[in-house]
Amino acid sequence: MSLSFDRHRRLRMSATMRNLVREHHVRVEDLIYPLFFVEGTGVKHEIPSMPGVYHFSLDVFKEELDDIVSLGIQSLMVFGVPNHKDACGSEAYAENGIVQQAIRMIKEAYPHMVVMADNCLCQYTDHGHCGVLHEGNVENDESLALLAKTAVSQAKAGADVIAPSNMMDGFVAAIRAALDEAGFVHIPIMSYSVKYASSFYGPFRDAAHSTPQTGDRKTYQMDPANAREGIREAAADVEQGADFLMVKPALAYMDMIQRLRTRFELPIVAYNVSAEYSMVKAAAANGWIDEQRIVMETMVGFKRAGADLIITYHAKDIAKWLKEGM
Ligand code: PBG
Repeated sequence: MSLSFDRHRRLRMSATMRNLVREHHVRVEDLIYPLFFVEGTGVKHEIPSMPGVYHFSLDVFKEELDDIVSLGIQSLMVFGVPNHKDACGSEAYAENGIVQQAIRMIKEAYPHMVVMADNCLCQYTDHGHCGVLHEGNVENDESLALLAKTAVSQAKAGADVIAPSNMMDGFVAAIRAALDEAGFVHIPIMSYSVKYASSFYGPFRDAAHSTPQTGDRKTYQMDPANAREGIREAAADVEQGADFLMVKPALAYMDMIQRLRTRFELPIVAYNVSAEYSMVKAAAANGWIDEQRIVMETMVGFKRAGADLIITYHAKDIAKWLKEGM
């Protein structure tokens, strides 16, 4: 009796054969490593809900930076956690703000490092919203002017990429116009285009001290139930001049990574957010999972879904594992 069927297993019979037919790969160049900077001196403080992630003051950061560079990581996403917060987030666009100082320090030490500046007001406002508040409402157009000002101050400090995460309408247009006017036509915008109002940001808000004091972010971040709306968000950003598109969070929104990949030709970025990290760390600390395998499977999953780049708190570990040739 002759049966007719495909023999898929032929291409799986040895590690070398599997290497030959592997479709997707994770490279250290794909990784963007997020960092949190605080004012003061001598601070290297681990964030309790994110083991292995720290608040750094700039004076003690150099050693860490050398370590990051020696691992081959070539791009960073910088967040500032200022001491002073006020209603209009003025430390976000202060010439000597913590993030501006961090950008200058990194670029001075390693001019080729690609430094990306998160562009938002939530860490800088006393109410914790991503824009300015009037009678409990986040004012869209008034916020745009401050975000644009922030982008210009980040570019002046030496940022290579501006990454707006604030989800105001028109933020890409406003930032593009302000950058161009200030002579920064060559600085790209990585737009957090498809960003959901997600519970997966919980640990980040501990790290960034950016939990809204009243209400939530649902009037500006997207409803997790919506996919088509995400396409409209991304299309608007493309039209306004975005150079990269981001999906955030990543794991529960892999479909959005794929949808964007099939619709747009720009580089697609997946943000593997804080709770995605914390859950893996907690399970690994309990001995319930194999951390390295879980992380690498997740990363190649992002690539398979269509991501070109991955922002991840696991970046240093991944870089080490890739070096060891796992
Ligand atoms: C600022 C911002 C947030 C994250 C990145 N930029 C928090 C938020 O929107 O509440 C979350 C990142 C993470 O959870 O790792 N708007």
